[in-house]
Amino acid sequence: MIQINEHYTKLQASYLFTDIARRVEAYQKANPDAKVIKLGIGDVTQPLTESVISAFHRAIDEMAVDSTFRGYGPEQGYEFLRTTIAQNDYRARGVAIEPDEVFVSDGAKCDSGNFQELFGTDTVIAVPDPVYPVYVDTNVMAGRTGAWADGRYQGLVYLDGTPSNGFVPSPPDQPVDLIYLCFPNNPTGAVARREQLQEWVEYARRNRALILFDAAYVEFIRDPEIPHSIFEIPGASEVAVEFRSFSKTAGFTGTRCAYTVVPKACTAYRTDGSPHSVRDLWSRRQTTKFNGVSYPVQRAAAAVYSPEGQQEIRALSDYYLENARIIRSGMEAIGHSCTGGSDAPYIWVDAKGAGSWDLFEKLLHTAAVVTTPGSGFGKRGEGFIRISAFNHRERVEEAMERIQAALR
Ligand code: MLT
Repeated sequence: MIQINEHYTKLQASYLFTDIARRVEAYQKANPDAKVIKLGIGDVTQPLTESVISAFHRAIDEMAVDSTFRGYGPEQGYEFLRTTIAQNDYRARGVAIEPDEVFVSDGAKCDSGNFQELFGTDTVIAVPDPVYPVYVDTNVMAGRTGAWADGRYQGLVYLDGTPSNGFVPSPPDQPVDLIYLCFPNNPTGAVARREQLQEWVEYARRNRALILFDAAYVEFIRDPEIPHSIFEIPGASEVAVEFRSFSKTAGFTGTRCAYTVVPKACTAYRTDGSPHSVRDLWSRRQTTKFNGVSYPVQRAAAAVYSPEGQQEIRALSDYYLENARIIRSGMEAIGHSCTGGSDAPYIWVDAKGAGSWDLFEKLLHTAAVVTTPGSGFGKRGEGFIRISAFNHRERVEEAMERIQAALR
């Protein structure tokens, strides 16, 4: 008899964004004339930029010619892209990352979801609350948690993000083995200062723990004091792995390209306490389970680093940040306190006593605007909604007018 992985039955209903999509579809069906504006899932709306598109076209043309055609590429990514990433995203900022520490992939969601496979089933895991659900659900699937009880999975160490800590939790009092951090944060839009990351790196070094640092939104940082990478913190390369993505940076949500940096110094331990290279484990995993990102997509990603490409992606993030400013000031004008939106594309809005799903439903039904209920990101998200800045300017402006009319 084929048996299911029973751990899947612990998962809460469906994935958050699937649940939202179903509710929006039902609303749209009942209200076919409503012009729904989606500020829910963080999906980009601006097209790929000129440099990216021309590199993409050129690479597709290469695939059509015998002498330049390519079959399987290296599982870790082509050398040209790994070198460009190491140089531009790290070495240019004084961080010593080598190309063979960069692993190109088809998404930070997949990488941050898959990475837990490298570690033992007894691994003690700490996650912020609120949190990007992928970190939690993938560990539930792998059997590293107990049952769902009172809005949380037993066995996980939850780190409360609250208005009083600015949604940047400090390390726990107890030792844990694996820590998920995301800055600029999804969902709260909070950013971590250098000394806050330093505290985490010191904690990880003391406890021989590992930090999985999701930096998918780094392109939105404008404050020069905010670190762009966990590896800017001394000692981090032994205790951290970093996920980055071209999705929000360069509009690649439908094109798919990301990368994970695993320094050679990064260490995990065998049961007898002897050290083992995390990079080698990830490389082994990727070569077995992944056949790399397509050649044209990697050429398109490399074009992001040309001088023109850099200007173009800056304009993209400026565009979404202006949307974020409009959303935040619009919500504040009607008395909702907000976090995020200045170095991140998400605005975390206090629902002023309303329940997250109640406010979500109210905005859907009275303003035809889709947001994301904060409680979908964890127990501490209750009483908040997340508004995404990824949409066309005129839609964001209209959404804010409708929201203000609905909530005033
Ligand atoms: C989100 O809205 O939280 C993100 O778009 C989800 C993702 O990047 O997978």
